[in-house]
Amino acid sequence: MRSLNRLLSTGLFLRRCLCTAEVAAEESPSLVRKGDRLYRRLSRLGAIGKTVSETLDEFFRDGGVIKKNNLERCIRELRYYSNFQHALEIMDWMQMRGITLPQRHHAVRLDLIAKAMGISAAKNYFDDLLPSEQNLYTYGALLNCYCQEGLENEALELFKKMDEMNVASTNLAYNNLMSLYMKLGKPEKVAPLVEEMKEKDISPSTFTYCIWIQSYSCLNDIAEVERVMEEVKKDDKEKLDWSIYSNLANAYIKAGDFMKAESALKQLEKVMKRRDRQAYHFLLGLYANTSNLAQVKRIWNVYKSVFPVTNNLSYLVMLQSLSRVRDLVGFKDVFMEWETRCSSYDVRLANIAIKTYLEADMVGEAELVFKRAVKRSAGPFFKAREMFTLYFLENRLIDSALRHMEAAVGEAKDNEWHPPPKIVSKVFDYFHEEMDIDRAEVFIKLLKKVGSCDSMTYNLLVQTYISAGKTVPDIQRRLEEHGIEMNDELEKLLEKESK
Ligand SMILES: *[C@@H]1O[C@H](CO)[C@@H](O)[C@H](O)[C@H]1NC(C)=O
Ligand SMILES: *[C@@H]1O[C@H](CO)[C@@H](O)[C@H](O)[C@H]1NC(C)=O
Repeated sequence: MRSLNRLLSTGLFLRRCLCTAEVAAEESPSLVRKGDRLYRRLSRLGAIGKTVSETLDEFFRDGGVIKKNNLERCIRELRYYSNFQHALEIMDWMQMRGITLPQRHHAVRLDLIAKAMGISAAKNYFDDLLPSEQNLYTYGALLNCYCQEGLENEALELFKKMDEMNVASTNLAYNNLMSLYMKLGKPEKVAPLVEEMKEKDISPSTFTYCIWIQSYSCLNDIAEVERVMEEVKKDDKEKLDWSIYSNLANAYIKAGDFMKAESALKQLEKVMKRRDRQAYHFLLGLYANTSNLAQVKRIWNVYKSVFPVTNNLSYLVMLQSLSRVRDLVGFKDVFMEWETRCSSYDVRLANIAIKTYLEADMVGEAELVFKRAVKRSAGPFFKAREMFTLYFLENRLIDSALRHMEAAVGEAKDNEWHPPPKIVSKVFDYFHEEMDIDRAEVFIKLLKKVGSCDSMTYNLLVQTYISAGKTVPDIQRRLEEHGIEMNDELEKLLEKESK
């Protein structure tokens, strides 16, 4: 799930590459064997309400053998699935029991602390380390944290210090800075760092090449992108893997040169391993971005012949690709195939179907998908309801739109959902245009239920009344009752209203 989010949200910002740049996760998590009883217990802690040390003690008492590498694997696994607190607790437990901690454990711990408790806790941890423990790895881990958080000044200051201590000459440190600059939207800062690396005789990694290419692509400098490619091919052939070709293809796509993009994708396919799911996902997405439906279908068939069991993530990527090239017939086939085969219903796939059908104005089809999703999954359905609301608003079917908002409010527990401001203002646009104060009041009641009534919403309400040539009854009392402070804009509106 998490890797999916990253894959989707970072696009071509390769997850694989990011992992390489992550200090404590040099190795991809060796998935714990299915039958691993200890990991099973540890990963279910939340559900059974026990602490890590209770679980470990209990496992020990029950005669379970706890091996050190097994614990280390559990730490890696928990970290991979963002369960940082529990990973930390395993390390505490090992320390308490006098078990030797893994090599570089300070760096791992620092990273976990940053993620579980925030960057300043991590900094404190670093400051409290013995001078001998403030080494290449712990400095590197702290730098990684700063860069991930986008903290430019802190990162640069630390990097300077690392340089003085002679621990800055690694491609990891440079790669971190480069990703920081990309994140901050300063791609022009990447190339000088590559130069600096070369001057210091640090050889670029695959990740360095990827990000270097991305930086020129962001600067719309395709000639430089091609120059980097020539350089890799000439000087560093062994680092030329599929991720570099996917970045190259993406650069061509952005530049609108689909012919060259497709020839890069052919190269990608040549160098990738046959059983690399992620590579197929990129191939699907990138061919879709060149609008080449035939290739999307071909890759999907190759993929399915290599992996007879297709997982929900792959279906999701394929559906997004088909949606992007607007192949609605193919989309429906693949979606139905997934629905019949899947063992657990994944709402994200229903959402992409609903989105695609609504965009194509096939609301009946979208509603059928939604019905099945509600039947087969426990939700949450907020995303789908938001999409329906917007669709119905656009088509001026206000009651259908409000019905979805009302249902979403009914389904929201503990502040887990608030209507996005964009939707709230669109709903009010409608009320304003139609001078519909009755429905506006109904909507305000809904918003109150999820604690989403603020001065912005009251502004919109007052405007609706003004458009209808009326005044809001009891506005002062209502504002006070809901603890909403008067702001300038609201005051002006009320003045206008009373005139
Ligand atoms: C395809 O293009 C979309 C929209 O620009 C983008 O979000 C997506 O990341 C691209 N897909 C790949 C695999 O690069
Ligand atoms: C996606 O598939 C995996 C494995 O096939 C499954 O464990 C997971 O529950 C599915 N995700 C959802 C949200 O259904």
